[in-house]
Order: sequence, then C-alpha cells, then structure tokens
Amino acid sequence: MSLTKDTDGSLELGLYTRNPGYQDEEGGGSAADTIHADPGEKHESDAAEYTQIKPYAGMPKEVLLLYSSQARYRVPREILFWLTVACTLALVTLTVTVIVMSPRCLSWWQASPVYQVYTRSFRDSDGDGVGDLKGIQEQLDHFEYLNIKSVWISPFYRSPMRDFGYDVADFRSIDPLFGTMQDFEDLLGEMQKKGLKLIMDFIPNHTSDQHRWFNLSRTREPHYKDYYVWTDCNATAPRPNNWVSVFGNSSWTYDDVRGQCYLHQFLKEQPDLNFRNLHVRKEITDIIHFWLEKGVDGFRMDAVKHLLEAAHLRDEPQVDPNKAPESVTSEWDLHHDYTTSQLGLHDLLRDWRAEMDIYSREPGRYRFMVTESYDYHEVDKTMMYYGTPLVKESDFPFNFYLLDLPQNTSGLWVQHLVHLWMANIPKGQWPNWVVSQESLYLHPPPPTFSFSNLPNSPLHLLFYFSNLHCYQVGNHDKPRIASSAGQTYIRVINMLLLTLPGTPTTYYGEEIGMENINVTDSQIQDPAGKYNASASRDPQRSPMQWSGDMNAGFNNKTNITWLPVHPDYSSVNVEVQKKDEGSVLAQYRFLNKLRQSELPLHRGWFCYVHADASVFSYLRELDGLDRAFLMVLNFGKESAITDLSSIRELPEQLKVLMSTNQVSEGKVLQKSRILTEAGEGLMIQYSTLIHFNPNHPEQCYVSEKTCYLSAMDILYKC
Ligand code: GLC
Ligand code: MG
Repeated sequence: MSLTKDTDGSLELGLYTRNPGYQDEEGGGSAADTIHADPGEKHESDAAEYTQIKPYAGMPKEVLLLYSSQARYRVPREILFWLTVACTLALVTLTVTVIVMSPRCLSWWQASPVYQVYTRSFRDSDGDGVGDLKGIQEQLDHFEYLNIKSVWISPFYRSPMRDFGYDVADFRSIDPLFGTMQDFEDLLGEMQKKGLKLIMDFIPNHTSDQHRWFNLSRTREPHYKDYYVWTDCNATAPRPNNWVSVFGNSSWTYDDVRGQCYLHQFLKEQPDLNFRNLHVRKEITDIIHFWLEKGVDGFRMDAVKHLLEAAHLRDEPQVDPNKAPESVTSEWDLHHDYTTSQLGLHDLLRDWRAEMDIYSREPGRYRFMVTESYDYHEVDKTMMYYGTPLVKESDFPFNFYLLDLPQNTSGLWVQHLVHLWMANIPKGQWPNWVVSQESLYLHPPPPTFSFSNLPNSPLHLLFYFSNLHCYQVGNHDKPRIASSAGQTYIRVINMLLLTLPGTPTTYYGEEIGMENINVTDSQIQDPAGKYNASASRDPQRSPMQWSGDMNAGFNNKTNITWLPVHPDYSSVNVEVQKKDEGSVLAQYRFLNKLRQSELPLHRGWFCYVHADASVFSYLRELDGLDRAFLMVLNFGKESAITDLSSIRELPEQLKVLMSTNQVSEGKVLQKSRILTEAGEGLMIQYSTLIHFNPNHPEQCYVSEKTCYLSAMDILYKC
C-alpha cells in the first residue's frame, strides 16, 4: 500500500493489500485489486465501500476516519473523553481542596522538644575540665536516642567568661575554651547530617567590656561614641539614677577612661548596647546574618526585655516607697518602668524576625526564634513576643511559668500554671513549656503585699497570692526539678511536659533526673552567686552524667571538672538508665516517641477534666479520631483516688498504657476510682466515639483545629 500526493495536493490511495478478513460480498475481488481514491468524485461511493471493510492493522487514515465517525465508535469515544475531563477536574478540585483544607505540617521546632545544652557542662573532649563543641559532637547520638531534633546550645562566643559566655567579646568567633570555628562548622555539619537543628544563644542586649566596640566607645572614637548608654555622673558616687542591675546593686559604673558612667543591666563587665543608635542595630543585624549564613537553624534571644531604656533616665518607682533610696539594691525593689519593655523593643524583634524570614525561604530551612523574657506578673507582656497575626516576632516566647511547679506542688497549682499560658496565648499560636533552666536570679520574690498593687483579674490575683506563698517556702532559685520537687516528682513532671500541647524544653540531665550539686561558698563560680551565695546558679550546672566512669564520663583525660560532679552519678547516668526499662530516661524516651507519633498528643485538643489538691487530669483528643488519651497526674504528697464518673465521654473502664510507677501498667481501672500514688502519672489510652471538647469548649484549647478523616487517612482543618 502507498499513499501519494497528486498534483492538486489531495491524497491518493495507492495499491493496498487487502485485509485478510475482508469478504467481498459480491464474491469478487482479489488480493491484487486496486482501489483508486479520488476524494473529489468518488467520495460517496468510496465511503460506502470502506464502511464494509472490517478494521485491520495498517488501514489508511482516510478509512480509519470514516470508521471513527460511525456512531458506534464516536459515542463511546465522546463518553470516554468527557469522563476523562470530568475526572481530571475532580482530581484538581480534590487536590486544591485537600491543600486548602490541610493544616500546616508541624515545623521542626514544633515537632521535637528543645534540648538545652549548657556548653560548659555537657561533654569535655579535651580534658580541660570544661565542656566544648567537640564534646557536643561526640554525644550527638544521645539526641537521636531521645528522638530530639532541636538542640539549643548556650553561648560559645569568645568571652572573658565573667558570665560564662553571656559576656561576648566577639560575636563572630568561638572561645578557645570551647574550640575553633572549624569545630563549630564540623558540629553543625554533623548535626545537619543527622537531621538535628542547631539553635544558638544570641545576646543582643550587651557585650563584654572587652569587646572592641566598648574600647572604642570609652575612648570616644566618633563612630562608636554612642554604641553604649553613657551619662555624666559623679566619679566618687556614680549613681546617676536609682536603676539597679539584675545581679544586684547600681546598674551604672564609672569609667575612668571616658570620665562618664555606662549602663549595665547585668554585670558591670556587661555594658548595655545602645539600640537607639542605628549603627548598633546594623551591627547586630549583620551578626545575625553571619550565623544564618553559616547555617544555624535559629536563635534563642537572650534578655530581650532589657534591650531599650528610657532616654530620660528618670528614677524608677520603688516597690516600697518608704524604703530608704540608698537601700534600693535589688531588682525586686523597683518597678522597671524605664529599663524594661520600652517602646520600640518589639520593632527590633520584628526586624530581626524579618531578616530570619529571608533565610527561611528554602524548603525545610525554617529559622526559628525564641525569646527569653521574664515578665513574671504580666503575662500579657510575655504574649506580645508572639507578635500579631500580621507581623511575626518570636515563634514563641519561653514559657517560664512552670518553673514555679516545685514551689507549691498540687494538682490545682499545676493546672493554674498551665492555665496561665493557655488562657492568654493569642489565637492560633503554639505553646511551649520549660520546667527547668539554668537561670536562677530570674525567679522573682513575691511582690510586697499592698492592696494598691493587687492585680485586677481573678487569675492574676490567684497568681499574686500564690507567689507570696512561694516566697515563704523560700524557693527563690531555679534548682533542678529533681532537687526542688524531689525525685518523687521528676517522672510525673517529665510526663506533664511531654503530654501538654506545644513544645517542651528539656534542660540537659532532666531526662535522667539529675539533681543539683552542693557548692560551698568558696567553690562558687557564678557571678550571681558571688553577689548572693543563695542565688548561685552553679548547683544546676554540674557536669552531665553519662556513665559510672570517672567524672561520670563528662571527660576521661583528666580529673578536673569545672564544677563538681554529683555524687549520685554511679546510679544516675545515661549508661545505667539505658539498660533499665523503668528508668527516668526510658520513660522520657517512650513519652517523647509517643508525643511525636500520636496525633492527639501533638495536634489535638487539650482539655482539663479534673484538678484537686493532688491530681491534675486532662485529655488529649482529636476530632474524627476515636483514639484519645487521659492523663491523671498526682503532684500531691499522698496517694489519691480520682472519680471521673461524671465525665460521660470516658468509657467506664480505662486501661493504663503507661504509669511512671510501672506497677499500674496494663491495669484496667474503673473511671470512678483512679488510684495514683504521690508523684505517679498515668497515661490512659481509650477509645471513644463521643468527644469531650465540643461540649466543654471552656475547658479545652487547641492551637490550630484539625480533624482526622479515617476514610482517606488525612488530617484536615475543621
Ligand atoms: C540570660 C541568661 C543568663 C545570663 C543573662 C545575662 O538571662 O539566661 O544566664 O546571665 O541573660 O546575659
Ligand atoms: Mg574542654
């Protein structure tokens, strides 16, 4: 067969080989028959002829076209075509709907707890007695073992170490005590390989007095003259106003070189930067870029409420107006109207956030910001660090309210502290919880009692009185939880931390229940402790207890450790606890895994169901999912029986999935008689078709409402 073009451009059908299946009805025709295709003249008759031909392989286009226009071919074809169009449209619509309806995936800083490494105390690789960057790198498997992805590392910048690294002499270099820039890059590279995120400590409020800028400022170098906050003062009585430092005494120090006083809201070796100077802002932004370029995943912004001070430098009002002004030496003596939370502070944070957003555009490279600010009695001030729905600031401000846990442990007290955050968090924002941190001076004594300064909301009122109570029991520092609350409570506190909604923060060693060490007055290292021994933060900074080996495995080349190792290290250490299924470590690990794998725990509703002198009980559930969790945590001094029979959403019988005491594990309890020992936490997993949150909206919170569609196995916004 051949097709050729004739002169007028029409196709001519040449000879073709007949379809072997063709039966000439007239009985005529042979394999050698020749058909002349003349579309002009013979079209009609050809068409009639072709339609008699059965389809066969290799039939010419014209024949094919004639066949295909027959109704029996055309109709199914059109049906198929429109079906395809309809299916494609349906698929596109479904995809768009799923995308629009889907809640965001949790970002890395939401999915994993934040683990705080205190660099000096984590692991000392070179045996000089002080932890270092290589040491952290040696222990990265520990984070993988715990299933922790976010690691906040306390400062390792070059520093004279007056405040152990929070006094920075050069923001762009590593202190030799901790290693080299190469060590930092190796650590970061290794962390990235393991999918771990590195959060740096960033200290914008002040520098060390050894910083180049300070030297240039005190000699009045024109560009640097106003890099710090200077004012005229009397050299012999250098107190231009009554402002006091967080570490105690006046926040002004006279400088002989410049002949003026400079401001320091912390140590005198930590002069405050002047953020009213645009060059200072630029310097700090450049440093942020420097570390983002290196690839760090986020910053913990230190002491942010102190960034700006009132330019007029007027005296701050005394808490007790009758106190003699010369005896005003502690930060608790003043209302910090002019030295904290000044107008413009949030603009600074927004600017930094915007810079970080530029570096967050690459997929999977979100740069995270957490702010540190202790606005103890002013929860609204804390919440401002979340920013507004339109202008972002930190991803969350640290929630320090749980640091008050050990003070007055009871179910009601715990609920109150949790509620303080949940009731005040802006809509849609992500909560977080810190139960222990190295800082201690930050814990405020109670306000002096006076009817005139009572808070006006009932919640704050309760908080106010609770604080009075805290002060009376003398817990004015931040000891490790196992020391302050007692070993009895460490497990239940970890259980609380890992089952509340939001990001938990774990200070190194809390996962094994490390306790404070005793530090004698002569051993004190901490500047805050040198001002006031009882305010020393050394006890909670002792070396990490890795094993029962020398120095608890903190180092193995020497016998020196910068602070003593806790004597309990032979039984309280990572190695021993790894082998024990019932250890604090094993429970921490189990709960953390569950937190990350169970939708109700990381995306679900959080609802209070009960609180009394001992027990705090809450639910975690997700709409559409029949699996839910009931937590019954006993923070009291005695065993308790909790009756939850009035909660009709709970089944009559409840099976314990996990108990911090282990004995109750697997037991089936009646909901009217849930027995817990002092310090015991129960996690109960149950099945229900009726959820608690729709009927008790006032007892329930959720960051972003999501539902589960079991038919398609997806989460969607609802
Ligand atoms: C932060 C740190 C603390 C330090 C202070 C001054 O509050 O947590 O350790 O002393 O800032 O930089
Ligand atoms: Mg070292």
